[in-house]
Amino acid sequence: MLRINKNYIKLKKNYLFREINEKVEYFKKKNKVNDIISLGIGDVSMPLANEIVEKMSTSIFEQTKKQSFKGYPPEEGYLFLREAIRKYYAKRKVEISNNEIFISNGAGCDVANLTDIFSKSDILIQNPTYPAYYDANFLSGNKIEFVLTTEENDFVPISPKKKKQYIIYLCSPNNPTGQTMNKLQLQKWIDYANETKSIIIFDVAYEKFIEGDYPHSIYELKGAKTCAIEVASFSKSAGFTNLRVSYSIVPFELERENIKINDLWKRRQSTYFNGVPYHLQKGAEFTLGDIGQNLCDKNIDVYKQNSKKLCRVLQEKGLKIYGNKCSPYIWFKCPNQMSSWEYFDFLLENYHIVGIPGDGFGECGKNYFRFSCLGTKEDIDDAILRLNKL
Ligand code: MLT
Repeated sequence: MLRINKNYIKLKKNYLFREINEKVEYFKKKNKVNDIISLGIGDVSMPLANEIVEKMSTSIFEQTKKQSFKGYPPEEGYLFLREAIRKYYAKRKVEISNNEIFISNGAGCDVANLTDIFSKSDILIQNPTYPAYYDANFLSGNKIEFVLTTEENDFVPISPKKKKQYIIYLCSPNNPTGQTMNKLQLQKWIDYANETKSIIIFDVAYEKFIEGDYPHSIYELKGAKTCAIEVASFSKSAGFTNLRVSYSIVPFELERENIKINDLWKRRQSTYFNGVPYHLQKGAEFTLGDIGQNLCDKNIDVYKQNSKKLCRVLQEKGLKIYGNKCSPYIWFKCPNQMSSWEYFDFLLENYHIVGIPGDGFGECGKNYFRFSCLGTKEDIDDAILRLNKL
């Protein structure tokens, strides 16, 4: 017998970013419009530095020589990259072992694939949320509960009073709200998880945007290794959205039902995952060195400047904004009590600007809107000119 997973039918027909894309393509075709500015999907726009690409290109040429040719990459990643990541964490006094690091091809894939190593579980997700957390768990048939974040709690998730065991998804700096948890706020989640034997999946995809005294890794805090998996990515930090390199950290201390979660993830990845190509891992390693970090920081600075300028304009218009300081996302309340989809249509039709309606991230976002500042300086400047006509 064959049975379709009917959760695919019950889920919204399109993934949020695809839905937006289709709407925009339809609008462009129908109205013969070509000057759309995207402040929508959080995709990077700044080209990679020559040095990073040169590193990858010399690495791929190693494949032309017998003595340096490489076949299958190790599923958990080459030791040189895991070692570079270990050192990157050590700079913040976070000690992790190479064998706790698993290289992968996307943080989005890892947060979804991690569901494989758990049987039906109770999931706790922030609302509004990055839609991949919800979709993956809904498709797996997991029971999903929400931590509501709203204006009242400044869009910062607070651990529930009810003590219950969950898999908890947290993202800080947050997508979509851009809000960042401070040490105390995150410590409360760690204490909650250890007390209830929950597991936190902590997404640090936007860690490089942090300014100020906020945790860059959950392992900076006490007790995290017994309750948290950290998922990170080179997509936003190094501009690798096309190249695909990410990693997850699964500490040896993390056990449930007397089973080491690290062993399960290793087992899962060795069956399902074929590893990330050598030259991409070489490129990623280079971005973690001093020269690479400086080059990546230059691009991050452009996005930060974008964000500052765009925020100023929104604030001048009297809009209350969240995020932005430690993240490439600006989250704000739609003007004139518009719903987020109304505002989406309004901006698209009148100004040819695309943003993401907060509703797409969950019920708590229905009157909010997200702009990404990962576009080029020129795009942001043009968007500002158009918004100033509002
Ligand atoms: C977003 O727009 O939220 C990002 O592109 C998400 C992602 O990295 O998948």
